[in-house]
Amino acid sequence: MQTVTLIPGDGIGPEITTSVVEILKAAGADIEWDIQTAGADVAEKEGAPLPERVIESIKKNKVALKAPVTTPIGKGFRSVNVQLRKALDLYSNLRPCKNIEGIKTRFDNVDLVIVRENTEDLYAGIERQIDEDSAESIKIITRKASLRIAEFAFEYAVKNNRKLVTAVSKANICKLTDGLFLECAREIAKKYPNIEYKEILVDNLCMQLVQNPEKFDVLVLPNLYGDIVSDLCAGLIGGLGIAQGANIGLEAAVFEPVHGSAPDIKGQNKANPTALLLSAIEMLKYINQKDIAEKVEKALFKTIKEGKSLTNDLGGNASTNEYTQAIISNI
Ligand code: NAI
Repeated sequence: MQTVTLIPGDGIGPEITTSVVEILKAAGADIEWDIQTAGADVAEKEGAPLPERVIESIKKNKVALKAPVTTPIGKGFRSVNVQLRKALDLYSNLRPCKNIEGIKTRFDNVDLVIVRENTEDLYAGIERQIDEDSAESIKIITRKASLRIAEFAFEYAVKNNRKLVTAVSKANICKLTDGLFLECAREIAKKYPNIEYKEILVDNLCMQLVQNPEKFDVLVLPNLYGDIVSDLCAGLIGGLGIAQGANIGLEAAVFEPVHGSAPDIKGQNKANPTALLLSAIEMLKYINQKDIAEKVEKALFKTIKEGKSLTNDLGGNASTNEYTQAIISNI
Protein backbone atom coordinates (compact mmCIF):
# COMPACT_ATOMS: atom_id res chain seq x y z
CA MET A 1 0.00 0.00 0.00
CA GLN A 2 1.38 3.40 -1.01
CA THR A 3 0.41 6.53 0.87
CA VAL A 4 -0.08 9.50 -1.45
CA THR A 5 -0.76 13.10 -0.42
CA LEU A 6 -4.01 14.30 -2.00
CA ILE A 7 -4.67 18.03 -2.39
CA PRO A 8 -8.30 18.49 -3.53
CA GLY A 9 -7.74 22.21 -4.25
CA ASP A 10 -10.68 24.58 -4.82
CA GLY A 11 -12.98 25.72 -7.64
CA ILE A 12 -13.60 22.55 -9.69
CA GLY A 13 -10.77 20.83 -7.77
CA PRO A 14 -12.90 18.88 -5.27
CA GLU A 15 -15.31 17.67 -8.02
CA ILE A 16 -12.59 16.29 -10.28
CA THR A 17 -10.73 14.87 -7.27
CA THR A 18 -13.81 12.88 -6.19
CA SER A 19 -14.12 11.55 -9.74
CA VAL A 20 -10.49 10.46 -9.98
CA VAL A 21 -10.41 8.87 -6.52
CA GLU A 22 -13.54 6.87 -7.43
CA ILE A 23 -12.02 5.70 -10.74
CA LEU A 24 -8.72 4.68 -9.13
CA LYS A 25 -10.61 2.79 -6.42
CA ALA A 26 -12.68 0.95 -9.03
CA ALA A 27 -9.47 -0.03 -10.84
CA GLY A 28 -8.02 -1.47 -7.63
CA ALA A 29 -5.23 1.06 -7.03
CA ASP A 30 -3.36 0.20 -3.85
CA ILE A 31 -3.32 3.72 -2.44
CA GLU A 32 -4.05 5.29 0.91
CA TRP A 33 -4.84 8.99 0.50
CA ASP A 34 -3.40 11.50 2.95
CA ILE A 35 -5.84 14.38 2.31
CA GLN A 36 -4.34 17.86 2.73
CA THR A 37 -6.36 21.00 2.08
CA ALA A 38 -4.79 24.23 0.82
CA GLY A 39 -5.97 27.55 -0.65
CA ALA A 40 -8.09 30.55 0.27
CA ASP A 41 -10.41 28.79 2.78
CA VAL A 42 -7.41 27.30 4.55
CA ALA A 43 -5.74 30.74 4.68
CA GLU A 44 -8.78 32.06 6.53
CA LYS A 45 -8.78 29.22 9.07
CA GLU A 46 -5.06 28.53 9.50
CA GLY A 47 -3.47 31.87 8.57
CA ALA A 48 -1.64 30.58 5.45
CA PRO A 49 -2.91 29.14 2.16
CA LEU A 50 -0.15 26.51 2.15
CA PRO A 51 0.37 25.41 5.76
CA GLU A 52 3.57 23.56 6.70
CA ARG A 53 1.57 20.33 7.24
CA VAL A 54 1.01 20.07 3.46
CA ILE A 55 4.73 20.34 2.70
CA GLU A 56 5.55 17.89 5.51
CA SER A 57 3.02 15.38 4.19
CA ILE A 58 4.55 15.46 0.68
CA LYS A 59 8.08 15.26 2.09
CA LYS A 60 7.05 12.17 4.03
CA ASN A 61 5.07 10.44 1.24
CA LYS A 62 7.34 11.65 -1.61
CA VAL A 63 4.41 11.74 -4.00
CA ALA A 64 1.24 13.82 -4.30
CA LEU A 65 -1.76 14.20 -6.54
CA LYS A 66 -2.93 17.79 -6.67
CA ALA A 67 -6.04 19.48 -8.05
CA PRO A 68 -5.85 23.21 -8.92
CA VAL A 69 -5.82 25.95 -6.32
CA THR A 70 -7.08 29.49 -7.02
CA THR A 71 -4.58 32.36 -6.87
CA PRO A 72 -5.93 35.86 -6.25
CA ILE A 73 -5.10 38.11 -9.23
CA GLY A 74 -3.10 41.33 -8.72
CA LYS A 75 -3.28 41.18 -4.91
CA GLY A 76 -3.55 38.71 -2.04
CA PHE A 77 -1.39 35.67 -1.24
CA ARG A 78 1.34 34.28 -3.46
CA SER A 79 0.36 31.30 -5.62
CA VAL A 80 0.15 28.07 -3.59
CA ASN A 81 1.34 26.25 -6.70
CA VAL A 82 4.46 28.36 -7.08
CA GLN A 83 5.16 28.14 -3.32
CA LEU A 84 4.83 24.37 -3.33
CA ARG A 85 7.14 23.91 -6.31
CA LYS A 86 9.70 26.15 -4.65
CA ALA A 87 9.43 24.63 -1.17
CA LEU A 88 9.97 21.09 -2.47
CA ASP A 89 12.40 22.15 -5.21
CA LEU A 90 10.22 20.49 -7.85
CA TYR A 91 12.42 21.92 -10.55
CA SER A 92 10.92 20.30 -13.62
CA ASN A 93 7.40 20.67 -14.86
CA LEU A 94 6.65 17.92 -17.33
CA ARG A 95 3.67 18.34 -19.63
CA PRO A 96 3.16 15.67 -22.30
CA CYS A 97 0.82 16.76 -25.05
CA LYS A 98 -0.55 14.12 -27.39
CA ASN A 99 -3.72 13.74 -29.46
CA ILE A 100 -6.32 11.38 -28.01
CA GLU A 101 -8.34 9.33 -30.49
CA GLY A 102 -11.95 10.52 -30.51
CA ILE A 103 -11.24 14.14 -29.67
CA LYS A 104 -11.61 16.27 -32.77
CA THR A 105 -8.93 18.94 -33.18
CA ARG A 106 -7.29 20.78 -36.07
CA PHE A 107 -4.37 18.36 -35.94
CA ASP A 108 -4.11 14.63 -35.40
CA ASN A 109 -0.34 14.34 -35.21
CA VAL A 110 0.60 16.24 -32.05
CA ASP A 111 2.97 14.31 -29.83
CA LEU A 112 5.26 16.63 -27.95
CA VAL A 113 6.48 17.12 -24.41
CA ILE A 114 7.00 20.38 -22.59
CA VAL A 115 9.78 20.51 -20.02
CA ARG A 116 9.30 23.76 -18.15
CA GLU A 117 11.77 25.12 -15.58
CA ASN A 118 9.75 25.44 -12.43
CA THR A 119 11.61 27.42 -9.79
CA GLU A 120 12.83 30.76 -11.12
CA ASP A 121 12.43 33.29 -13.97
CA LEU A 122 9.70 35.91 -13.34
CA TYR A 123 8.01 33.38 -11.04
CA ALA A 124 10.62 34.07 -8.36
CA GLY A 125 8.02 36.67 -7.29
CA ILE A 126 10.56 39.46 -6.73
CA GLU A 127 8.46 42.50 -7.49
CA ARG A 128 8.41 46.02 -6.17
CA GLN A 129 6.41 49.16 -6.54
CA ILE A 130 8.82 51.90 -7.62
CA ASP A 131 6.32 54.71 -7.31
CA GLU A 132 2.61 55.14 -7.85
CA ASP A 133 2.98 54.82 -11.62
CA SER A 134 5.61 52.16 -12.02
CA ALA A 135 6.52 48.72 -10.74
CA GLU A 136 9.24 46.22 -11.54
CA SER A 137 9.65 42.46 -11.53
CA ILE A 138 12.97 40.69 -11.60
CA LYS A 139 13.64 37.82 -13.97
CA ILE A 140 16.12 35.40 -12.46
CA ILE A 141 17.89 32.75 -14.50
CA THR A 142 20.73 30.76 -12.90
CA ARG A 143 23.28 28.37 -14.33
CA LYS A 144 22.35 25.71 -11.76
CA ALA A 145 18.64 25.68 -12.61
CA SER A 146 19.23 25.94 -16.36
CA LEU A 147 21.74 23.09 -16.44
CA ARG A 148 19.53 20.75 -14.43
CA ILE A 149 16.39 21.43 -16.47
CA ALA A 150 18.31 20.88 -19.73
CA GLU A 151 19.73 17.66 -18.30
CA PHE A 152 16.21 16.58 -17.30
CA ALA A 153 14.94 17.25 -20.85
CA PHE A 154 17.72 15.24 -22.50
CA GLU A 155 17.42 12.39 -19.99
CA TYR A 156 13.67 12.32 -20.62
CA ALA A 157 14.35 12.20 -24.37
CA VAL A 158 16.72 9.24 -23.97
CA LYS A 159 14.42 7.28 -21.64
CA ASN A 160 11.34 7.88 -23.77
CA ASN A 161 12.87 7.31 -27.16
CA ARG A 162 12.53 10.90 -28.27
CA LYS A 163 14.77 12.24 -31.03
CA LEU A 164 14.84 16.02 -30.77
CA VAL A 165 15.18 18.57 -27.95
CA THR A 166 14.42 22.22 -28.79
CA ALA A 167 15.48 24.96 -26.36
CA VAL A 168 13.12 27.94 -26.35
CA SER A 169 14.11 31.50 -25.45
CA LYS A 170 13.88 35.17 -26.25
CA ALA A 171 17.66 35.51 -26.16
CA ASN A 172 17.66 38.15 -28.91
CA ILE A 173 16.08 40.53 -26.37
CA CYS A 174 16.89 39.05 -22.94
CA LYS A 175 20.50 38.54 -23.90
CA LEU A 176 21.90 37.86 -20.43
CA THR A 177 19.11 35.83 -18.83
CA ASP A 178 17.82 33.80 -21.78
CA GLY A 179 21.34 33.87 -23.18
CA LEU A 180 22.51 31.99 -20.08
CA PHE A 181 19.62 29.53 -20.43
CA LEU A 182 20.71 28.74 -24.00
CA GLU A 183 24.38 28.51 -23.07
CA CYS A 184 23.49 25.83 -20.49
CA ALA A 185 21.24 23.94 -22.93
CA ARG A 186 24.08 23.86 -25.49
CA GLU A 187 26.52 22.59 -22.88
CA ILE A 188 24.21 19.70 -21.93
CA ALA A 189 23.35 18.97 -25.59
CA LYS A 190 27.00 18.13 -26.23
CA LYS A 191 26.71 15.20 -23.80
CA TYR A 192 23.87 13.67 -25.85
CA PRO A 193 25.15 13.26 -29.43
CA ASN A 194 22.32 10.86 -30.30
CA ILE A 195 19.63 13.44 -29.60
CA GLU A 196 19.24 16.24 -32.12
CA TYR A 197 19.37 19.72 -30.57
CA LYS A 198 17.74 22.89 -31.93
CA GLU A 199 16.93 26.38 -30.66
CA ILE A 200 13.96 28.63 -31.40
CA LEU A 201 12.66 32.02 -30.27
CA VAL A 202 9.42 31.76 -28.33
CA ASP A 203 7.38 34.01 -30.64
CA ASN A 204 8.39 32.00 -33.70
CA LEU A 205 7.66 28.80 -31.75
CA CYS A 206 4.06 29.91 -31.11
CA MET A 207 3.50 30.55 -34.81
CA GLN A 208 5.08 27.25 -35.84
CA LEU A 209 3.14 25.30 -33.21
CA VAL A 210 -0.21 26.41 -34.56
CA GLN A 211 0.89 25.60 -38.13
CA ASN A 212 3.09 22.50 -37.88
CA PRO A 213 3.03 21.06 -34.36
CA GLU A 214 4.35 17.73 -35.64
CA LYS A 215 7.76 19.38 -36.13
CA PHE A 216 8.33 19.44 -32.37
CA ASP A 217 9.30 16.70 -29.96
CA VAL A 218 10.73 17.73 -26.54
CA LEU A 219 10.64 21.47 -25.77
CA VAL A 220 12.69 22.87 -22.89
CA LEU A 221 11.72 26.34 -21.69
CA PRO A 222 12.26 28.83 -18.88
CA ASN A 223 9.32 29.12 -16.49
CA LEU A 224 7.17 31.89 -18.04
CA TYR A 225 7.37 30.77 -21.68
CA GLY A 226 6.77 27.20 -20.47
CA ASP A 227 3.59 28.25 -18.70
CA ILE A 228 2.17 30.10 -21.69
CA VAL A 229 3.21 27.60 -24.36
CA SER A 230 1.70 24.75 -22.26
CA ASP A 231 -1.75 26.27 -22.58
CA LEU A 232 -1.22 26.80 -26.32
CA CYS A 233 -0.28 23.13 -26.67
CA ALA A 234 -3.28 22.09 -24.57
CA GLY A 235 -5.39 23.92 -27.17
CA LEU A 236 -3.79 21.86 -29.94
CA ILE A 237 -5.02 18.57 -28.47
CA GLY A 238 -8.51 19.59 -27.39
CA GLY A 239 -8.22 22.00 -24.48
CA LEU A 240 -7.24 22.29 -20.86
CA GLY A 241 -9.68 19.57 -19.79
CA ILE A 242 -7.28 16.92 -21.08
CA ALA A 243 -3.84 18.45 -20.45
CA GLN A 244 -1.87 16.57 -17.80
CA GLY A 245 1.25 17.52 -15.90
CA ALA A 246 3.78 16.62 -13.24
CA ASN A 247 6.23 18.57 -11.08
CA ILE A 248 9.29 16.49 -10.43
CA GLY A 249 12.23 17.07 -8.10
CA LEU A 250 14.92 14.89 -6.61
CA GLU A 251 13.00 14.25 -3.36
CA ALA A 252 9.34 14.36 -4.40
CA ALA A 253 6.88 14.50 -7.29
CA VAL A 254 3.53 16.30 -7.46
CA PHE A 255 1.18 15.27 -10.27
CA GLU A 256 -1.34 17.90 -11.34
CA PRO A 257 -3.26 19.03 -14.43
CA VAL A 258 -2.17 22.07 -16.46
CA HIS A 259 -5.50 23.83 -15.93
CA GLY A 260 -6.59 26.06 -13.09
CA SER A 261 -9.58 25.98 -10.75
CA ALA A 262 -12.05 27.09 -13.49
CA PRO A 263 -14.27 29.22 -11.20
CA ASP A 264 -16.64 29.84 -14.15
CA ILE A 265 -17.90 26.22 -14.02
CA LYS A 266 -17.36 25.48 -10.32
CA GLY A 267 -20.03 23.37 -8.62
CA GLN A 268 -21.95 22.72 -11.85
CA ASN A 269 -20.99 19.07 -12.34
CA LYS A 270 -19.55 20.08 -15.74
CA ALA A 271 -15.79 19.88 -15.18
CA ASN A 272 -13.76 17.41 -17.18
CA PRO A 273 -11.69 15.23 -14.80
CA THR A 274 -9.51 13.82 -17.64
CA ALA A 275 -6.49 16.07 -17.07
CA LEU A 276 -6.33 15.10 -13.40
CA LEU A 277 -6.97 11.46 -14.31
CA LEU A 278 -4.14 11.44 -16.87
CA SER A 279 -1.89 13.02 -14.22
CA ALA A 280 -2.98 10.27 -11.80
CA ILE A 281 -2.17 7.61 -14.42
CA GLU A 282 1.38 8.99 -14.67
CA MET A 283 1.51 8.95 -10.87
CA LEU A 284 0.48 5.28 -10.82
CA LYS A 285 3.35 4.49 -13.21
CA TYR A 286 5.72 6.52 -11.01
CA ILE A 287 4.75 4.48 -7.91
CA ASN A 288 5.12 1.23 -9.84
CA GLN A 289 1.43 0.39 -10.15
CA LYS A 290 1.77 0.08 -13.92
CA ASP A 291 -0.94 -2.58 -14.38
CA ILE A 292 -3.51 -0.36 -12.71
CA ALA A 293 -2.28 2.63 -14.75
CA GLU A 294 -2.80 0.68 -17.97
CA LYS A 295 -6.23 -0.52 -16.87
CA VAL A 296 -7.38 3.05 -16.16
CA GLU A 297 -5.79 4.40 -19.34
CA LYS A 298 -7.55 1.79 -21.50
CA ALA A 299 -10.94 2.51 -19.91
CA LEU A 300 -10.43 6.26 -20.30
CA PHE A 301 -9.42 6.09 -23.97
CA LYS A 302 -12.24 3.65 -24.72
CA THR A 303 -14.78 6.01 -23.14
CA ILE A 304 -13.48 8.97 -25.16
CA LYS A 305 -13.38 6.98 -28.41
CA GLU A 306 -16.95 5.76 -27.90
CA GLY A 307 -17.90 9.45 -27.67
CA LYS A 308 -21.21 8.69 -25.93
CA SER A 309 -20.50 10.39 -22.61
CA LEU A 310 -18.18 13.31 -23.11
CA THR A 311 -18.14 16.48 -21.03
CA ASN A 312 -19.13 19.90 -22.46
CA ASP A 313 -15.58 21.05 -23.20
CA LEU A 314 -15.17 18.03 -25.51
CA GLY A 315 -18.43 18.70 -27.34
CA GLY A 316 -20.59 16.29 -25.34
CA ASN A 317 -23.28 16.86 -22.73
CA ALA A 318 -22.38 14.39 -20.00
CA SER A 319 -21.92 15.64 -16.45
CA THR A 320 -18.73 14.97 -14.50
CA ASN A 321 -20.55 12.15 -12.68
CA GLU A 322 -21.88 10.53 -15.87
CA TYR A 323 -18.45 10.64 -17.49
CA THR A 324 -16.90 9.16 -14.34
CA GLN A 325 -19.41 6.30 -14.29
CA ALA A 326 -18.83 5.64 -18.02
CA ILE A 327 -15.10 5.22 -17.36
CA ILE A 328 -15.76 2.99 -14.36
CA SER A 329 -18.06 0.75 -16.38
CA ASN A 330 -15.27 0.41 -18.99
CA ILE A 331 -12.74 -0.76 -16.40
P1 NAI B 1 -8.45 27.85 -15.86
O1 NAI B 1 -7.52 26.83 -16.39
O2 NAI B 1 -9.01 27.61 -14.51
O3 NAI B 1 -9.69 28.03 -16.88
C1 NAI B 1 -9.55 28.46 -18.23
C2 NAI B 1 -10.77 28.01 -19.04
O4 NAI B 1 -10.70 26.58 -19.24
C3 NAI B 1 -12.08 28.27 -18.33
O5 NAI B 1 -13.06 28.61 -19.27
C4 NAI B 1 -12.45 26.93 -17.68
O6 NAI B 1 -13.82 26.70 -17.53
C5 NAI B 1 -11.84 25.93 -18.68
N1 NAI B 1 -11.39 24.71 -18.00
C6 NAI B 1 -10.27 24.58 -17.25
N2 NAI B 1 -10.20 23.35 -16.75
C7 NAI B 1 -11.28 22.68 -17.19
C8 NAI B 1 -11.77 21.35 -16.99
N3 NAI B 1 -11.11 20.45 -16.24
N4 NAI B 1 -12.94 21.00 -17.57
C9 NAI B 1 -13.61 21.88 -18.34
N5 NAI B 1 -13.20 23.15 -18.57
C10 NAI B 1 -12.05 23.55 -17.99
O7 NAI B 1 -7.68 29.24 -15.94
P2 NAI B 1 -8.02 30.65 -15.25
O8 NAI B 1 -9.48 30.93 -15.33
O9 NAI B 1 -7.05 31.57 -15.85
O10 NAI B 1 -7.60 30.46 -13.73
C11 NAI B 1 -8.49 30.23 -12.66
C12 NAI B 1 -7.71 30.12 -11.36
O11 NAI B 1 -6.89 28.95 -11.37
C13 NAI B 1 -6.75 31.30 -11.11
O12 NAI B 1 -6.87 31.63 -9.74
C14 NAI B 1 -5.41 30.74 -11.41
O13 NAI B 1 -4.37 31.38 -10.69
C15 NAI B 1 -5.57 29.30 -10.95
N6 NAI B 1 -4.62 28.37 -11.59
C16 NAI B 1 -4.17 27.35 -10.81
C17 NAI B 1 -3.33 26.41 -11.33
C18 NAI B 1 -2.87 25.30 -10.45
O14 NAI B 1 -3.42 25.09 -9.39
N7 NAI B 1 -1.87 24.55 -10.85
C19 NAI B 1 -2.89 26.46 -12.73
C20 NAI B 1 -3.49 27.54 -13.49
C21 NAI B 1 -4.31 28.46 -12.91
